[in-house]
Amino acid sequence: MTPAAALAASPLAVALRGSSALHAAVASVHLIGVALLVGSIAVFDLRLLGLSRSLPVRRLAAHLLPWSAASFLLIVPSGLLMFLARAEELIGSPLFALKMMLLLAAGTNAALFHAAVFRGAAAWDVDAPPPWQARVCAAVSLAIWVSVIVCGRTLAKA
Ligand code: HEM
Repeated sequence: MTPAAALAASPLAVALRGSSALHAAVASVHLIGVALLVGSIAVFDLRLLGLSRSLPVRRLAAHLLPWSAASFLLIVPSGLLMFLARAEELIGSPLFALKMMLLLAAGTNAALFHAAVFRGAAAWDVDAPPPWQARVCAAVSLAIWVSVIVCGRTLAKA
């Protein structure tokens, strides 16, 4: 038995496949997390693109980004549970692989932004145009998160 087949045969996976109510509850937790993550990140990205420049970028980051980080507490366990339920099918799915690679790309983009661009944010904190590097990171971030949502929705059953 392959590891994916063993996961898909586990009692939890069998329970998730057997109960549409349980699956809907787990998918709802996933989507609440997605709303929190993409909502908070998109508002921050719009600020990095140059909108609402009267809002101090560092204070906005301090308010929004902890919510983005906390959203993973909802997204990751629920995502793993839904993966478990369909592990045999999804382990070989190019779309699922693409979604995971996009998540890696989003993490890399965010890490680069914080390590290289956000350090200098004092110079453009308020009422100043963000540097082009911040705008590029924000545009890439928005494009990746939209793509992750499209992949997730395409993978979803029903
Ligand atoms: C560890 C990370 C993640 C894993 C393992 C994961 C796994 C999954 C799986 C397996 C599904 C298909 C559900 C089904 O069978 O019905 C799904 C759906 C979905 N995922 Fe994720 N996901 C993760 C992170 C994310 C993130 C970060 C986002 C968006 C920012 C996202 C957005 C979605 C959306 C929109 C759906 C469709 C849900 C629905 O319409 O019911 N996922 N995810």
